Amino acid sequence: MTVSRPIFLLSLLFLLSVSWEAASASGSGSAHGRREKFLQCLLHNSHPSHPISTAIYTPNNASYSSVLQSYIRNLRFNMSTTPKPLVILTALHESHVQAAIVCARMHGLQMKIRSGGHDYEGISYVSEVPFFILDMFNQRKINVDAQTETAWVQAGATLGEVYYRIAEKSKVHGFPAGVCPTVGVGGHFSGGGYGNMMRKYGLSVDNIIDAQMVDVNGRLLDRKSMGEDLFWAITGGGGASFGVVLAYKIKIVRVPEVVTVFLVRRTLEQNATDVVYRWQQVAHKLDEDLFIRLVLDVVNGSQSDGKTIRATFRALFLGDSARLLSVMKSSFPELGLVQSDCIEMTWLESVLYWTEFPIGTPTNALLSRTPQVLTHLKRKSDYVKKLIPKAGLEGIWKKMMELQVPALTFNPYGGKMGQVPATATPFPHRAGNLWKIQYATNWNQDGKEQANHHIELTRKLYNYMTPFVSKNPREAFLNYRDLDLGINHNGKESYLEGKVYGIKYFKGNFKRLVQIKTKVDPGNFFRNEQSIPVFP
Ligand SMILES: Cc1cc2nc3c(=O)[nH]c(=O)nc-3n(C[C@H](O)[C@H](O)[C@H](O)COP(=O)(O)OP(=O)(O)OC[C@H]3O[C@@H](n4cnc5c(N)ncnc54)[C@H](O)[C@@H]3O)c2cc1C
Ligand SMILES: *[C@@H]1O[C@H](CO)[C@@H](O)[C@H](O)[C@H]1NC(C)=O
Ligand SMILES: *[C@@H]1O[C@H](CO)[C@@H](O)[C@H](O)[C@H]1NC(C)=O
Ligand SMILES: *[C@@H]1O[C@H](CO)[C@@H](O)[C@H](O)[C@H]1NC(C)=O
Ligand SMILES: *[C@@H]1O[C@H](CO)[C@@H](O)[C@H](O)[C@H]1NC(C)=O
Repeated sequence: MTVSRPIFLLSLLFLLSVSWEAASASGSGSAHGRREKFLQCLLHNSHPSHPISTAIYTPNNASYSSVLQSYIRNLRFNMSTTPKPLVILTALHESHVQAAIVCARMHGLQMKIRSGGHDYEGISYVSEVPFFILDMFNQRKINVDAQTETAWVQAGATLGEVYYRIAEKSKVHGFPAGVCPTVGVGGHFSGGGYGNMMRKYGLSVDNIIDAQMVDVNGRLLDRKSMGEDLFWAITGGGGASFGVVLAYKIKIVRVPEVVTVFLVRRTLEQNATDVVYRWQQVAHKLDEDLFIRLVLDVVNGSQSDGKTIRATFRALFLGDSARLLSVMKSSFPELGLVQSDCIEMTWLESVLYWTEFPIGTPTNALLSRTPQVLTHLKRKSDYVKKLIPKAGLEGIWKKMMELQVPALTFNPYGGKMGQVPATATPFPHRAGNLWKIQYATNWNQDGKEQANHHIELTRKLYNYMTPFVSKNPREAFLNYRDLDLGINHNGKESYLEGKVYGIKYFKGNFKRLVQIKTKVDPGNFFRNEQSIPVFP
């Protein structure tokens, strides 16, 4: 994939400059009036060889609803009361992205950018103000070059497609990114991106070497032309505050031909507390080839009416089972891992295993864009920097059994995560973190009442966890979007509102993100409920 610069761009830029006054008058007029002007602008700018009309969906088009729903990944936002976009533009060409930005700016229309649609708070396709969606799912080319160990990946590709296409070219390469195969590259990479190889290779953003994006002036940029500041910002600071990412160039990483996975479970009756306590001490210090995720949930106990806590240890080891057993014997014998727990497979098969496809599922299941499960959900995150004493764990179990939800997932850090400087990318949670917690609550019923009930239970456990997690700030992971951390109304108080969640997501890097934002998008066109604000 090479950076091409269509001549047509010149006319866009010209249009933009002559209608600067129109832009400053934007915001006036009804939403529907602005939509009509926006549509006219899109059509007017349509390039003959890439007509835009086939990419435009308004509520009048028969497939508007199915296009909208295709990438809603949280059913909490699939309700009749959920605000709907005035237009969905399913970009078929980069010129459509350029036109969307230029025309939206000119007519004062809020743009939401959606790639895979996995944002936990739906902010890529929902807004409280009139808006349209720039939908990137058609931009999904993946170009792997095993020789140079690199790949160009477009924003609308899914992680499953990325993994599959890498493995197609090479059995000894992979990429460190998320576990769920339907997650989109656009949101995932721009927000950090972590998965079960992070202790060995870091985050997705630690392995990005170039990018293509369209900025607020409709210019097509690559790393060289955007400069190191902006490149830094879109490798962890969230793309949506800075522009539309078209593609990333990644460094693919080496994986062995055979990897080993295991899943071991312990309930409280099987000494889960002791084993979890020990996990806390060792998981972040283990051999970097070994990643052991710990999931804690409430299940029925052995007594007829009793509940218990189930600790699930799910691992990926970048090596064979013999070496894994010796690593476990010397560093974590308390788990009691035995040969029969270990399953050897290819790295690509381990991706399927981790996302709970049955063993033996053909690997092309990773190319499916239909999620295995769709529910209503709420997620929150925390970072842990000191061990939780046994009595603390017991208190947490008690609280979890009282609430029944959410489940907690502990993802161990250490290894490469502790070696990358906290300022290398906007993602600041590096050395000193033992693990990250995800709070996960799922439910199946529609309706505000059900949602409020489950969100409230999630907040209760989060509040209970306060003494055990990071403070000043209480840190959070951008890709685990949580609007409880603050909402930006993008009005006069935008900077102060942005600082509240910005410090939690980015710590000291927030300031540099604001500086870059102020420079590249002073008019705050690229904004959302938790975007990076400009300096007042
Ligand atoms: C089932 C599930 C599993 C997950 N597992 C993991 C995991 O293992 N590891 C992990 O790190 N995270 C995980 N996540 C979180 C996920 O990384 C984030 O939700 C991520 O932002 C999703 O990217 P997306 O493109 O699918 O989402 P979208 O909802 O499309 O976008 C998310 C955000 O990025 C912006 N954005 C999207 N595309 C672009 C673009 N091209 N240019 C600029 N801005 C853009 C959107 O406007 C929005 O603000 C998971 C989420 C789900 C729902
Ligand atoms: C949607 O409807 C409009 C107006 O009828 C039409 O111009 C456009 O091409 C339609 N979009 C698609 C994708 O068919
Ligand atoms: C989303 O809502 C629509 C309209 O109510 C419904 O037809 C569709 O099945 C819903 N999607 C899912 C995945 O439940
Ligand atoms: C739990 O711990 C006790 C005491 O250390 C031990 O006797 C017992 O075998 C352990 N149970 C399991 C299932 O490991
Ligand atoms: C757990 O127990 C409850 C009754 O206490 C029962 O209704 C439920 O089906 C059980 N769940 C499972 C998964 O066995």
